[in-house]
Amino acid sequence: MRNMTCIEDLRQTYHRKVPRAFVDYCESGSYAEQTLRANRADLERIALRQRVLNDVANRSTKTTILGEPVALPLALAPVGLTGMQHGDGEILACRAAQAAGIPYTLSTMSICSIEDVAAAVNKPFWFQLYVMKDRGYIRALIERAAAAKCSALVLTVDLQVIGQRHRDIKNGMTVPPEIRIENLIDIATKPAWAVGVLRGKRKTFGNIAGHYPGMANVTVLSKWIAEQFDASLSWKDVEWIKSLWPGKLILKGILDVEDARIAAKTGAAALVVSNHGGRQLDGAPSSIAMLPPIAEAVGSDIEVMFDGGIRSGQDILRALALGARSCMSGRAYIYGLGAGGEAGVARAIEIIRNELDFSMALTGVTSVAEIDRRVIAST
Ligand SMILES: Cc1cc2nc3c(=O)[nH]c(=O)nc-3n(C[C@H](O)[C@H](O)[C@H](O)COP(=O)(O)O)c2cc1C
Repeated sequence: MRNMTCIEDLRQTYHRKVPRAFVDYCESGSYAEQTLRANRADLERIALRQRVLNDVANRSTKTTILGEPVALPLALAPVGLTGMQHGDGEILACRAAQAAGIPYTLSTMSICSIEDVAAAVNKPFWFQLYVMKDRGYIRALIERAAAAKCSALVLTVDLQVIGQRHRDIKNGMTVPPEIRIENLIDIATKPAWAVGVLRGKRKTFGNIAGHYPGMANVTVLSKWIAEQFDASLSWKDVEWIKSLWPGKLILKGILDVEDARIAAKTGAAALVVSNHGGRQLDGAPSSIAMLPPIAEAVGSDIEVMFDGGIRSGQDILRALALGARSCMSGRAYIYGLGAGGEAGVARAIEIIRNELDFSMALTGVTSVAEIDRRVIAST
């Protein structure tokens, strides 16, 4: 992993090692992918301010997220089907995050279940919740997350309906999944991936299979999921979830100042400024464009997290400068996972941490708390 010096190296290796359908699933945005592109383009446009001759010998990227100490202001975002990017992917990513001193978020749509991950790691992780029509199931899922001692519940609020990703349909990644000859040929050229996935604990949605009789069948299960996303979800449901979940609640997928103000009043511990990595409303602004007005509107009423386009430590510095307390990253660690399993995720986190540390030094700051708009160049 030493010769992987940046997230782009991991991405290229990931593309070589993982079957095309899963790579496309990860890389795609919805519809014309305008928002996906804007997430990166708008971050790259933000110039950092080079400062010199400040004593920056003693620096630290350590901070807190929701009051818990972390090695850097980063959490691994929930990513559905992670266990299809690499066998037991959720367990490996969680282990790498915990070893690096940052939180890991397990998706509702994971391959390994809450219990699988809890049994394989020795520290608490976060659980991400999609609310489905079957509220009995949601209640049970929240209870399972509590029983597994998850330390935060991340409620995703930007997926009442599912954005269309053209390549998923063309690849047969839609639900129900299609077995196609071209996919099988592609998989045959990725034997290490295939062995890993075959050896993995599960090959289907671990949190859902087993909950219903007859759900062991992937096709039946996928159909059920597609019908289950609840378009009627509302702020009232946030209250209901709060009544079931006594721990810290994070609202993920806020992209509007008005919504942020409402979110701040719910009693949630944090919100994540996010457009789901450009996978939902295409044509929406980039996450980084909406971060400053949202951070200003909510002030210190709620902790502000950020995701969308983070590929480097410089990107974290930019987001923190514009009002985030911490960031989440999705694709960057999936690249690492596909490239090298647990070691690849560890490498992704290490690359980002080193870049953040270096960029702090050359913008003249020594602690995360000091990062503010002064690190942005006024060109
Ligand atoms: C392949 C993929 C699957 C995702 N699955 C979920 C999910 O199950 N739940 C969720 O809340 N967000 C999901 N997201 C969104 C991420 O949590 C995160 O918001 C996004 O990846 C951030 O953008 P980035 O990939 O540019 O870092 C997914 C993103 C990707 C790329």
